[in-house]
Amino acid sequence: MADGIFRLAIIGAGGIAGAHAGAIKASPERLALSAVVDLNADAAAKLAQDVNAKTFASAAELFKANKAERFIDGVIICTPPSARIPLVELALKHGVPVLSEKPLAHTLADAKKLASLSRKYKKTPAFVGYCHRFVPAVHDMLRHTAGGKIGTPVRWENAFACDLPGHETKWFSEPKKSGGGAYLDMGSHSIDLFHFMAGPSKTLGAVFTNKWKGRTETAGTVLVKSVKASKASGIKPGVAGSIYAGWAETCRFTLALVGDKGMFFYDYEKPSELVFKDLGGKAEVIACEAHDVRFNKQLVAFADAVQKKAKTHLASFDDGVTAAAAFDAAMKLAKKK
Ligand SMILES: NC(=O)c1ccc[n+]([C@@H]2O[C@H](COP(=O)([O-])OP(=O)(O)OC[C@H]3O[C@@H](n4cnc5c(N)ncnc54)[C@H](O)[C@@H]3O)[C@@H](O)[C@H]2O)c1
Repeated sequence: MADGIFRLAIIGAGGIAGAHAGAIKASPERLALSAVVDLNADAAAKLAQDVNAKTFASAAELFKANKAERFIDGVIICTPPSARIPLVELALKHGVPVLSEKPLAHTLADAKKLASLSRKYKKTPAFVGYCHRFVPAVHDMLRHTAGGKIGTPVRWENAFACDLPGHETKWFSEPKKSGGGAYLDMGSHSIDLFHFMAGPSKTLGAVFTNKWKGRTETAGTVLVKSVKASKASGIKPGVAGSIYAGWAETCRFTLALVGDKGMFFYDYEKPSELVFKDLGGKAEVIACEAHDVRFNKQLVAFADAVQKKAKTHLASFDDGVTAAAAFDAAMKLAKKK
């Protein structure tokens, strides 16, 4: 750490670990991948090979080796959420800061246990990887909204949806392992982003759709309302949020913030264009940085939070519990017929 480089370990070398490894590579002057852990030795070796990172078959082995000769400054936990508690506890016990992938846990009870671990080891920072907080267009929307461009925000509209037929046979849709389906997976990004941009929410209605028999929901359609001002944006409470989360539908990643004088619209398929429309529908394209920098920005924020004690936009474990509680509320509303 003397050279300012923040050395990371990744625990869980599956799908999302590749995005983190790529994000580390994008800032060689600031970030390094020093170790990879996976129960599957081939997966760990594959991720570690081109940067010559150390590999371990378990988190216990990683932290034991790191105690003898410190080679990591933080850990990214990329396992399925149901595996998190012992891994986070081990990291915090060893004083190694944590960035846990989202959702924080597969149940509200486990999310609360993790938040209480974070309080117990409060000297060691712990965050949740709600990476859409680092999408530049989100910050552009908030900056222009604070400047009055769309007037008073009244509605927030978001769709994070895809066609992921492979999920039918993966842990993602296995109720006991995942704790929830499309709304927990994609929708937890949405609900955290709503909390970040518009403030803490109350969930008012939810419809879940199950395409796959015996598996979790494949679509979540949820209505929320902000009940407190957002700390990040200062947007006042009363904003309605509509969330569309899906695993078995046409792919779309879109976000809109609608005010009484105009609106912003961002389509992740047009990554450098934030669109403003006035009340008459006249469009203005505002150039913005593409969303694919979000994983890199999130890791640099992790490094800054640990090394410089900087205030960042990273989600805390308490934010992770707030998102988990919103999922729990939606699940209960969706079950009511
Ligand atoms: N931020 C995002 O946009 C985003 C995108 C995709 C997935 N995710 C999240 O990332 C997490 C992982 O998803 P994924 O798609 O990479 O899953 P995955 O199944 O592809 O990978 C998980 C990996 O963890 C390993 N693993 C499981 N238990 C372990 C343990 N105890 N110790 C070490 N390794 C262990 C598995 O062997 C596997 O290689 C999930 O919580 C998911 O919701 C986030």
